Amino acid sequence: MNTDNFYVTTPIYYVNDKPHIGHAYTTVLADVLARYYRSLGVDTFFLTGTDEHGQKVEKAAARRNMPPKQHCDETVVRFQELWKRLGVTNDRFIRTTDEFHKQVVREVLQDLYDRGEIYKKEYSGWYCVGDERFYTEKDLVDGKCPECGREVSEIKEWNYFFRMGKYREWLIDYIQTHPDFIQPAFRANETLGFLKKELGDLCISRPKSRLAWGIELPFDPEYVCYVWFDALINYISGVGYRRNDAEFEKWWPASYHLIGKDILTTHSVYWPTMLKAIGLPMPKTIFAHGWWLTGNTKMSKSLGNVINPMDMIDKCGVDAFRYFLLAEMFPGNDANFTEAAFVSRYNSDLANDLGNLLSRVLKMTLRANEGVIQPPAELEADDLELNAEVDRAVGAMEESLRAMKCDQGLAAVMNAVRAANRYLEKTAPWTLAKKGEVARLNTVLHTAADALRRVSVLLAPVMPGKMAELRAALGYSGDDLFNATIAGLKTGQCDLAGRVMKDTPGLFPRIQLEDAEKPAVPAAAPAPEKSSKPVNVVETIAIGDFARVRLMTARVLEAEKVQGADKLLKLQLDAGGERRQIVSGIAGWYTPESLIGKTIVIVANLKPAVIRGVESNGMLLAAKAGKELRLITTDGEIDSGAEVG
Ligand code: ME8
Ligand code: MG
Repeated sequence: MNTDNFYVTTPIYYVNDKPHIGHAYTTVLADVLARYYRSLGVDTFFLTGTDEHGQKVEKAAARRNMPPKQHCDETVVRFQELWKRLGVTNDRFIRTTDEFHKQVVREVLQDLYDRGEIYKKEYSGWYCVGDERFYTEKDLVDGKCPECGREVSEIKEWNYFFRMGKYREWLIDYIQTHPDFIQPAFRANETLGFLKKELGDLCISRPKSRLAWGIELPFDPEYVCYVWFDALINYISGVGYRRNDAEFEKWWPASYHLIGKDILTTHSVYWPTMLKAIGLPMPKTIFAHGWWLTGNTKMSKSLGNVINPMDMIDKCGVDAFRYFLLAEMFPGNDANFTEAAFVSRYNSDLANDLGNLLSRVLKMTLRANEGVIQPPAELEADDLELNAEVDRAVGAMEESLRAMKCDQGLAAVMNAVRAANRYLEKTAPWTLAKKGEVARLNTVLHTAADALRRVSVLLAPVMPGKMAELRAALGYSGDDLFNATIAGLKTGQCDLAGRVMKDTPGLFPRIQLEDAEKPAVPAAAPAPEKSSKPVNVVETIAIGDFARVRLMTARVLEAEKVQGADKLLKLQLDAGGERRQIVSGIAGWYTPESLIGKTIVIVANLKPAVIRGVESNGMLLAAKAGKELRLITTDGEIDSGAEVG
């Protein structure tokens, strides 16, 4: 059983769809995790692939007058080419039409049938071809598919069923006792909500008279296997189940099944009950991320608002695209893709902060030392402070990836980059050069170059190509461009002294905003899909409305619990020389001691209130996502009482 290795999967995508940034996101996220764990020295396996059976594919092939397999062979290439272009390092690409996979599915079916887990009965139900799922009459919404809103057709026939219903209690208990099993936690609650209703058995066959394109049931040649039952098994057939015991033992159970929230139920209910019946351990975590929206509507082919990843890559390069996907989405929530957001993040993080840091270090080192990075003299407080900031980024990156909060890890790395830029402003190497303070100059340039070196390793899983370029600029070559690991970073050894920096044109040239102001995507049609209700839609306000709220910085002087109210803390603040008391419900996230000295942001002109008998004069700002809460603080030191706006 896999306890130490890392095995990550993506959904296997319908071979019919044209890949868009939603598919690219899940796959890039899996790739970043895989690269990151490899870099930590953990044995890693990354599986992706395509889902090729079922009615959708059969119909599409019929429209083109070709056998389904030929249609699949032609369309699978779109995914394979995109993954190659995106630098995706999957260890295997599985197709459900692969012979070995079909064999494993047949063996699983036979085994479950022999053990009475599968039986035959007459059934009538409503079928949605788009989602390849059956619904009962009461599932339907206005007579249409409850998931996607499309037409459904009534079907009455004899079919085979998997005894899913009998695992309901077991599954509820398993989810409740394994908090990591379905993530984020609110998705576990969603699944538990679904399980509150009775859980029926799962229809796992289709009569060939209706659908021939599938894996034939080993115990009844008149039927093929239901496409989801077939598809989910890829996660085990893809790592040697029933074919290579050593391989299977090494990787199963999976560390992560990454999926979008659209396929939560199949993964959090069908799949665990199937595994339970088969007799296999559960995956450690099923992680359902949110949707990429355009204009606050789910991107989907039928809505015509799809962003083609190839176009974005052509425009802005693979690495910047990967960075944007990871930095912009907090994986539990939905995110909105706009070209303006892309350009603004690119210009601020990559061009201004990271690109600029490299070009400053490069220019100074070329001018002062003909490009040679000199060994440092004794480190001073500023140097140590920058080193500590980069150390923090190393820790934050690891922590955030383990908690699947990649956006936060990247933010910590960018903080270190900004700290390095501030460090150069403060230490002013150009003045040191003028004054002839050579030892100090060399120390400063070495310290800044070392920050870049460490950042190049931390960001390599996200931007492998650009980080190799950055390392080339730092004087590395050959394998050293690609092979530096985070495991190596942690040894604390630095091999920069003596390297010759290479003059490099801008790593991330600025993108002009005028290109971005044109809408990148056609305006989205109103959402016909019930479950794609716009999220994050905010009513706009005029600037004057916002100006009525007086926000200011305040420093926490004292903090203590409010007697008899375990959620509340009473804070004494310095708000620009004026002392204020605020009561806030943050005791679940912060201890009183941890707050002292923090500069936070408060709403200063809120009507005073009395909370649990204690006066509160204003409100503090905090960000909340699910069960997480973080106070809003300032990026670096600033006086209390400073205006925020
Ligand atoms: O469901 N935003 O395949 P599929 C974010 N074959 N992610 C998105 C997205 C969006 N707008 N659109 C798609 C299937 N995705 C089945 C899976 S697995 C055993 C079988 C991503 O081609 C996301 O990961 O419809 C979502 O779950 C997946 O693509 C669905 O891909
Ligand atoms: Mg889909």
